[in-house]
Amino acid sequence: MSTSVLMVCLGNICRSPTAEAALREAADDAGLDVTVDSAGTGAWHVGNRPDARMRAAAAEVGLDVDGAARQVEVDDFDRFDLLVAMDTENLANLRRLAPDEAARERVHLFRSFAGDDGASVPDPYYGGRDGFVRVVELCREAAAGLVDAIRHGRVG
Ligand code: 4NP
Repeated sequence: MSTSVLMVCLGNICRSPTAEAALREAADDAGLDVTVDSAGTGAWHVGNRPDARMRAAAAEVGLDVDGAARQVEVDDFDRFDLLVAMDTENLANLRRLAPDEAARERVHLFRSFAGDDGASVPDPYYGGRDGFVRVVELCREAAAGLVDAIRHGRVG
């Protein structure tokens, strides 16, 4: 059975496309059947490719980050088993958008799967290269934890 996961950040051009690629990579490595997509709570970058700085930082360590940005929609709560927020603000916005309590309970904070409860993947957009490198590291850590959680039936 496939578990479907939607990764969510603000713009869908830095963190969530990286989280999407990291989860796909971790699931492939584990032989786990996961369907992954990503979206943003904001609409500014809809249709754009991931930020070139993000793609470069990921490519340097062998992670292919690509796709076209889209905005989260209410239907996503029907289409995905899990909705995973990159930061606490995305988490609050997703929970506000959730159509009911059952949907709200399927919204999680990404780094909680790495044991970092309450922690965000910091927004790299207005910073330097280090921030983008850090996003890749954090996404790979949390993706490994999420694969583990799905495999052991703790979520999904
Ligand atoms: P993301 O990064 O949420 O990780 O995709 C951002 C991208 C764009 C903006 C902010 C954060 N922005 O303000 O345009």
